Amino acid sequence: MRGLYATTALAMLLGCGSVTAPAKEQVAAAKVDAAADNWAVKTEAQMTDEERFSLLHGFMPIPLGPFANPELQAKWPKDVIPGAGYVAGVPRLGIPSQRATDASLGVTNPFGVRKGDTATALPAGLAIGATFNPELAFAGAHTVASEARAKGFNVLLGGGINLVRDPRNGRNFEYISEDPLLSGIMGAEAVRGAQSAGVVSTVKHFSLNSNETNRHTWNAEVDEAAHRESDLLAFQIAIERGKPGSVMCAYNLVNGHKACGNDHLLNTVLKRDWRYRGWVMSDWGAVSGADFAVKGLDQQAGEQLDKQVWFDAPLKAMLADGSLPRDRLSDMVRRILRSMKANGLIDAAPAPAVDMAAHAGIARQIAQQGIVLLKNDGNALPLAANVSSVAVIGRNAHVGVLSGGGSSQGLPPGGWSASIPVGGGEGAIGAWRVERWFAGAPLAALREALPKARVGFDPGLYPQDAAALAARSDVAIVFVSKYEAEGFDSPDLSLPGNQDAMVEAVVAANPNTIVVLETGNPVAMPWRDKVKAIVAAWYPGQEGAAAIADVLTGKVNPSGRLPVSFPASTETLPRPAIPSYGTPENTHVTVQMNEGSDIGYRWNARQGIKALFPFGHGLSYTQFATGGLRTDGTTASLTVRNTGDRPGASVAQLYLVSRGGKAMRRLVGFQRVELAPGSEKAIRMTIDPRLLADWNGAGWTIAAGEYRFALGDSAEMLSAPVAVSLKRRVWSD
Ligand code: BGC
Repeated sequence: MRGLYATTALAMLLGCGSVTAPAKEQVAAAKVDAAADNWAVKTEAQMTDEERFSLLHGFMPIPLGPFANPELQAKWPKDVIPGAGYVAGVPRLGIPSQRATDASLGVTNPFGVRKGDTATALPAGLAIGATFNPELAFAGAHTVASEARAKGFNVLLGGGINLVRDPRNGRNFEYISEDPLLSGIMGAEAVRGAQSAGVVSTVKHFSLNSNETNRHTWNAEVDEAAHRESDLLAFQIAIERGKPGSVMCAYNLVNGHKACGNDHLLNTVLKRDWRYRGWVMSDWGAVSGADFAVKGLDQQAGEQLDKQVWFDAPLKAMLADGSLPRDRLSDMVRRILRSMKANGLIDAAPAPAVDMAAHAGIARQIAQQGIVLLKNDGNALPLAANVSSVAVIGRNAHVGVLSGGGSSQGLPPGGWSASIPVGGGEGAIGAWRVERWFAGAPLAALREALPKARVGFDPGLYPQDAAALAARSDVAIVFVSKYEAEGFDSPDLSLPGNQDAMVEAVVAANPNTIVVLETGNPVAMPWRDKVKAIVAAWYPGQEGAAAIADVLTGKVNPSGRLPVSFPASTETLPRPAIPSYGTPENTHVTVQMNEGSDIGYRWNARQGIKALFPFGHGLSYTQFATGGLRTDGTTASLTVRNTGDRPGASVAQLYLVSRGGKAMRRLVGFQRVELAPGSEKAIRMTIDPRLLADWNGAGWTIAAGEYRFALGDSAEMLSAPVAVSLKRRVWSD
């Protein structure tokens, strides 16, 4: 982490993996909250209804393709910045316009609407999750948000908190993990990091937007307890710790009601039970009625993607006929105003200059810490310093690193070294499906890192050619990739094209084969047992090539841990096939979330299934001994020792493994720790009681009984459990 604070000068107070925010910070936050509430009430009272309604809806300022509307464009206010969103302000009262940009992985430039405008492009959300490092989640989001602010934006449409329920979901690369604690804690730090730059952060997509297939008509049927204990818990932790100014509701339906017009989700869970004080904005094109306002939606965003601007004339009519209570109108406006005030958008000082070199450094740190070493037989990695010949194999390894597509797609300062339209899908989403490779090629990075070696290249188009190069090299490094994008799921976990055949041919020619995955999801690896080493690099961002070379050559000791399970096969998933996959867009489908709150590793534990690689798994070039677990069920203490001969980082993981004699698996604490060889560190974790409890319909219940906890190198590699007897406890949120 050295150098991280030097440039960003942030005072980061963290309670890694635990749930209590530091007391001093809470007091300061309460003051800001109270001042923001008072200002919002005072300011709203001075507004005309016309001004009130103007804050409740906004459009997508993209004058191109399917979004173009010359008539409206002629009326665009002067301070519009082309991008994801714009909501007019009220200059008379000092309320600025809201200028929104996507998102969690970098400030985007959709369809190149701001010619040549680039921004730091971070690795995938799953890479950020794999760091298990809340400080890096904070720093990454601060990086993105400070660039957003410097470009004139004041609302960031990130980050994505949805849990990875289905490893074929095309947007998983934007999300953090399959686990509510990990996503909640990392998501909270991302929110805090973004908002510390003076912009509003938005958590999304609330809730259960777990697949892209028929995303507007997908109805997720979920049991209330299961929902509260999984996806909702991730949002709840992120919201209570991070205090995002805004929450974006999802496209899909939850239990029969559209998420953006879902009274239960928005009014009961978010606003009543969690006492959320910010505003709910819609996803772009997710609103189908003005009545969504009484169901808890505060703002219709990206309105030209909806059939109507519901939150203007139709909502005014509801106010006139009494079906929109005046109090609710005031509440909608105040929520928006208080979040703008609390996050420094009112009377904002000019944006500080950004240090792009420092930001590139943060992108590189995330990539370095997010890369997961899945397998390393016979210490094939790191590459020997005296390796004389290396075969670099794989499509585009000579060009760049892959990124994910859709609204989160970034354009880094180095640009795209390849842009390959994939096509398929209808309308704007189809046009968005373009494979983009960030400049900075693994081939060049490896040649630079291994100046004495002969580093050859084969694109892997023909297995025979790849095998021939591998046969005459000391080691073969095969780059395989799978493109994922918003709007699309994958039918299965396979690597597309002939990549599996190519890996098989290479490893047959040279057993000293290392595979590097550039994927936005877990993938199947039929050749897993044959190759020596496997490295999951995800979509590694603009500094990805250098980070991959750092890890392969040992300059960086890998420390990433899987934030998602790599399934043994699609047959082991709660839904072996994606419901309604392949049907025409907007086919209605109801999906029973029969896994309940047991997602990913929890599902595997419940079913007695072993993963291909489990959640929490990740190797290092050194070894660690984690032990000495003591817990009373509220806190836990343990030690981690580096027993190897290199500095490295480990992630201590604590799991609940049984309750009242019934086996189960839940991550209840984690902490990343850096250790010099031979050194040891004592760690203390606070256990969030919700992770031990069941949702009882009105709150949480911890049943009296025996609770067993175990340390894990992964969700499957567990040490001997420690048993604790807990008393019954019942409480509400
Ligand atoms: C996505 C959101 C995004 C919005 C604005 C939607 O398609 O679902 O995540 O923030 O577009 O670009």
